[in-house]
Amino acid sequence: MTATVPPPEDRQPDAVPPPDTGLRPDAGRPSGPAMPAGLPSCAVIDLQAVRDNVATLVRRAGPASVMAVVKADAYGHGMLPVARAALGAGAGWLGVTQISEALALRSAGLSVPVLAWLTVPGDAYGPAVAAGIDLGISRRGILDEVARAAAAHNVTARVHLKIDTGLHRNGAVAAHWPDLVDHALKLQAEGCLRVVGAFSHLALSDVPGHPLTDSQLAAFRQAVDLAERRGAELEVRHLANSAAVLTRPDTHFDLVRPGLAVYGLSPLPQVAGPAELGLRPAMTLMGRIAQVKRVPAGAGVSYGHTYTTPAPTTLALIPLGYGDGLPRHASGTGPVLLRGRRHRIAGRICMDQSVLDLADPENRTGVCSGDVAVLFGDGLDGGPTAEDWARAAGTISYEIVTRLGSRVPRIHRALDPAGGAGS
Ligand SMILES: Cc1ncc(COP(=O)(O)O)c(C=O)c1O
Repeated sequence: MTATVPPPEDRQPDAVPPPDTGLRPDAGRPSGPAMPAGLPSCAVIDLQAVRDNVATLVRRAGPASVMAVVKADAYGHGMLPVARAALGAGAGWLGVTQISEALALRSAGLSVPVLAWLTVPGDAYGPAVAAGIDLGISRRGILDEVARAAAAHNVTARVHLKIDTGLHRNGAVAAHWPDLVDHALKLQAEGCLRVVGAFSHLALSDVPGHPLTDSQLAAFRQAVDLAERRGAELEVRHLANSAAVLTRPDTHFDLVRPGLAVYGLSPLPQVAGPAELGLRPAMTLMGRIAQVKRVPAGAGVSYGHTYTTPAPTTLALIPLGYGDGLPRHASGTGPVLLRGRRHRIAGRICMDQSVLDLADPENRTGVCSGDVAVLFGDGLDGGPTAEDWARAAGTISYEIVTRLGSRVPRIHRALDPAGGAGS
């Protein structure tokens, strides 16, 4: 059997030692977290940032309590480590949409109040009430299902009634609210459940001063008044998401439900960045350069050749693509930090790979396979952020972090990079 000889372009950059620039191989990371050896890519989650962000939110929300929203795998950050970090920093509640997410928190031994607010007919109400999970309810039929499940398990279910004050997503519309309240109070009198909360969700809290927030707030107050006049003894009234926690103290009531801000991203990027809000992004997405090659001017790059090299140059291959959650809409625009320089993805983002044009025909910066490229992080070292990727893709930072694929390992660090400890 003959040995396979790699084609010359594969050998070239590694066979020709790069000029000595005095830079370390991971010099694209002058100050961010290190990437563990042997991984093609990873997302490092700085749990100290999560704790600091939650502490900021606890201060801003006080005297209201904080429910850390950890749905959708904590916006892609890893639900259990984030939940523990948030509780350690003063959050008193955890919020998810689905009962399965709430049950996962209970299975991990977390016994704090957990609210699951998106309930559907035939959902797992038995396991939920048996596990002491609070349920958000928008419809009379679901109240009946929950009451039956509670009776079957011989427990009293805890429910939060949801009023639609203008988002027109889930929640009872104003015309159905009195009936929902009355029906819940009837079931409460029968001993099946207890109405512990009333809540709603804002549509435009990311636009400070928008009149809809005032009108939603007024509608929420009216709905709460009605429920209390009819006999509800509410433990918690809650309305505020991240943007409202940070900009509208009048929406705080007894409990606030921040999600994005827990992860250090700005919920009002048009108005203020994370640092101005006292937040620090917790996730750093990194990829290890798989290959470096020199190409002439006029080389079409990636599928469709939507990018052509304007001059002789060096290309670097990143082992991350839309299969990992990179938005394909950021083809040609997504920013990447490599050896201290910012680049844009050249041509199309593929399922598993993306290419950078280093605009450096001699590869003077000495980029080589094995180097670490940072796609986004806290931005404190001048590198790109999830917000930069959101702009590049025409979306929001929520989507950038939440859609990160399961193929990208999440590495949770308990201390900030200077501390160096991992969890
Ligand atoms: C009902 C509800 N509350 C709170 C949140 C958290 O919102 P944010 O991430 O903007 O803080 C969400 C997020 O979608 C939500 O649906």
